[in-house]
Amino acid sequence: MLKLLLLVLFSAASLQAITTHGQPYDYLQYVLQWQKTKCLKVGRRCTPRLQPYEEFTTHGLWPTNLSKMLTCKSASKFSSTMLQNNASLLSKMENSWPNLEQRVAQGKGNNMWFWAMEYEKHGTCAKFSSQNTYLSKACDLWEENKIKEIFEHHKIIPRNATPYKDVLLMNAIQMETRSSPLLLCHRINGDYLLWEVVLCYDDTAKKRMNCSDQSARQTNCGTDIYYK
Ligand SMILES: *[C@@H]1O[C@H](CO)[C@@H](O)[C@H](O)[C@H]1NC(C)=O
Ligand SMILES: *[C@@H]1O[C@H](CO)[C@@H](O)[C@H](O)[C@H]1NC(C)=O
Ligand SMILES: *[C@@H]1O[C@H](CO)[C@@H](O)[C@H](O)[C@H]1NC(C)=O
Repeated sequence: MLKLLLLVLFSAASLQAITTHGQPYDYLQYVLQWQKTKCLKVGRRCTPRLQPYEEFTTHGLWPTNLSKMLTCKSASKFSSTMLQNNASLLSKMENSWPNLEQRVAQGKGNNMWFWAMEYEKHGTCAKFSSQNTYLSKACDLWEENKIKEIFEHHKIIPRNATPYKDVLLMNAIQMETRSSPLLLCHRINGDYLLWEVVLCYDDTAKKRMNCSDQSARQTNCGTDIYYK
């Protein structure tokens, strides 16, 4: 009997170890996406009319290792109730981290579905004390990194006819954030369209890092990049 009780206690303890936040990783990628390009990528599944559309919004905040992308192996689940209990956070999430791709099978709760997917895949092993602290950090990072405005300061505005040089886009962000970003593109008819801007941070998102020093992910853009 005692043996059985100990066994039960022991199993409960090891289950908790699996669900603990904070598996080791080297840095965080804060990933922003240019909504218009994402919409071109997903076509009619895009949900732009609900969104700002000509704006960079959060794609995710991803624990990453120098040599590889990571997927969390935690058993923790996203709690929509926990998020809904904080109305101010929920409203920031809707503004800065909208889902842009309609998933018919998942019904209408698109944002919640997207946040659950991002949290369970990337957030559960990040070094934050709770789900809401993790989500809240991503909202803060969005406030601190207004890429569209940074581009505007450097006279880089969306335009259809002519691409921008990659170094021009890189330098604008580098000058204002004092760290080098990573740019990712979506290729349409041979043209590179700016899709994602990645900003790198240390594992708790307190200090910026140069994405160029990291090798887990590399740019897939050419030297001529359309920002439109
Ligand atoms: C990621 O890197 C850390 C050390 O920086 C290491 O402890 C951990 O095992 C690595 N994770 C994976 C999944 O490779
Ligand atoms: C709700 O979220 C905000 C961030 O938007 C945070 O500053 C605040 O502490 C949270 N409130 C509670 C009660 O957790
Ligand atoms: C990024 O690299 C540049 C040039 O090597 C360096 O001056 C800068 O301090 C680095 N920034 C960070 C945040 O490490």
